[in-house]
Amino acid sequence: MRDVIPSVPIEAIGAPALRARRAQQVGGLSRRTLLRRAIGAGFGVVAIEWVAGTLGFAWSAVAGVGAKVRVGTLDDLLLTNPGLPIREGFPAYVLAARAFVVLVDPAKGGWSPGLDAIGEGTALNVRALSQRCPHLGCRPNPCIEDFWFHCPCHQSRYDRLGIKPAGEAYGPAPHGMDRYAIEVDASGALIIDTGTITLGPLPIALGQPGVIPPRVQGGCV
Ligand code: FES
Repeated sequence: MRDVIPSVPIEAIGAPALRARRAQQVGGLSRRTLLRRAIGAGFGVVAIEWVAGTLGFAWSAVAGVGAKVRVGTLDDLLLTNPGLPIREGFPAYVLAARAFVVLVDPAKGGWSPGLDAIGEGTALNVRALSQRCPHLGCRPNPCIEDFWFHCPCHQSRYDRLGIKPAGEAYGPAPHGMDRYAIEVDASGALIIDTGTITLGPLPIALGQPGVIPPRVQGGCV
């Protein structure tokens, strides 16, 4: 014999009762609530990443800044950067100063003792450049092929002494790389004063005196 399904009494619902039932909170999460929460969580993740990135950038920008950093002699710098053509004018990175150190005129062979409060570098034959790109603060890297700095963020380029060539083709940075005050003591040791900085000069047209052409075209694009 087949089971008999008991009949369910049908309840008559009027329009007011229907409206009241629709207005009742549905158990669990509605699609709208779920969507709102998902969007909120997405914004939360983005906000956390933004804060972490900002803190990381700020830390890299200020860490070590303000101190006097003793780099040592040119020979010391060569020893810690074996294989790099620093004597030929290639920039050497000094992490403790967040700076690049570069011979101004390689033909002179070395640094000269003295003080340089604006970091221009000609008298001491050495220049210390801040690692912060004047555009938005990324770190340009020197290219072994053309001896220029190339910023990886928005492609600003600078010659090996931090001069920005004029023109959009050389990126959006408004001026050359900033310079630290320096001293070369009687023993020939270089000291970088990271608390004293001078803004880099305005861009100079390539081909004019003051900007060094790249050694090769198209290096480290
Ligand atoms: S941060 Fe260097 S070009 Fe934008």
